[in-house]
Amino acid sequence: MRKSGRRKSNRPKLDKIDLSKKFALFKDYWSPKIVSELNDSYVKLVKLKGEFVWHRHKKEDELFLVTKGRLTIKLRGRDVELAKGQLLVVPGGVEHKPTATREAHVVLIERKTTRNTGQIRSERTVPHPARI
Ligand code: NI
Repeated sequence: MRKSGRRKSNRPKLDKIDLSKKFALFKDYWSPKIVSELNDSYVKLVKLKGEFVWHRHKKEDELFLVTKGRLTIKLRGRDVELAKGQLLVVPGGVEHKPTATREAHVVLIERKTTRNTGQIRSERTVPHPARI
């Protein structure tokens, strides 16, 4: 039988991802879960409630897309309010602090090397996010 030629790799599966079903799989806040990947980035889901820590990612941009609830991304000097269906890309080096009064569901796209708390190490740091 002829080999398909397809590399055995971490290539993303060609399966659709149902965000509601994935979000139903976990309850913990501030603990991103990997659901897919593209190029050198992960697609992660996270549930947020309360205030995170001020942090920045030296050279890594970070995309936040809200799929449920509201998210405030505090920046030094101003706040960006995101409603369901809105997204913000925080450029590398920019200090930010995500905050959600009520539970918010957020899709993150960021490089595989990006740590959730950036340059800060705290009890909120998740060095190796789970895959779901
Ligand atoms: Ni960040």
